[in-house]
Amino acid sequence: MAYLAPSILAADLLDLKEEVLLVEQNGADFIHVDVMDGHYVPNIAFGPEIVHALSRVTKLPIDVHLMMVEPHKHIINFANAGSSIITVHQEVCDHLDRVIRHIKENGCRAGVSINPATPVDSLSHILSIVDLVLIMTVNPGFGGQEFISYSIEKIQKLAKTKSDNNYNFLIEVDGGIYIDNVASILKAGAEVIVTGSGIFKQKNIAEACSKFKAILNGK
Ligand code: DX5
Ligand code: ZN
Repeated sequence: MAYLAPSILAADLLDLKEEVLLVEQNGADFIHVDVMDGHYVPNIAFGPEIVHALSRVTKLPIDVHLMMVEPHKHIINFANAGSSIITVHQEVCDHLDRVIRHIKENGCRAGVSINPATPVDSLSHILSIVDLVLIMTVNPGFGGQEFISYSIEKIQKLAKTKSDNNYNFLIEVDGGIYIDNVASILKAGAEVIVTGSGIFKQKNIAEACSKFKAILNGK
């Protein structure tokens, strides 16, 4: 079984409450929130206020993906706002070990993310202490991009390292994931599937969500 994490980046923001409740009722396991600073990535999106607002609406854990420079400056705010998981990018953290510990000290599960061009090996020393590893399967910044096919090798490599060492982190993947390519991504070893367009841009959000969930449940 894998977990489903719909990304609200693709939701209709004026109907956010209804759409979040709809995915909650149709099999979502986490609500994925993309935070973009217009500097590390060329787009701007969301802050702690939206996390706080969501935490009052949904019972699901809020999975916060920080695509920003100097994420350590904002961990306490995102933790206090109601985040369950906070993920930072390896590429921007000069002191990754310190940031991961800081996230945990503030009561959240700690994740680390790598971009398509960043090797899985760059994480080897941190894998024993993280709760989640997010492999970006598009270049971060926008929804609706195409899945980068060489990501499959990276997921496989991480899954093998996880099982060889009995690590506990979850393997999350994010970007360009739809009903028609999710099976091969799961087969490679993904355990948390983030999808924005694959759910919120579909005509029938409830149906898209439950179809995804059925595939993730192996049905
Ligand atoms: C991309 C974000 C994703 C994005 C995925 O920078 O991290 O979470 O919302 O969107 P889709 O599923 O549309 O590729
Ligand atoms: Zn994301």
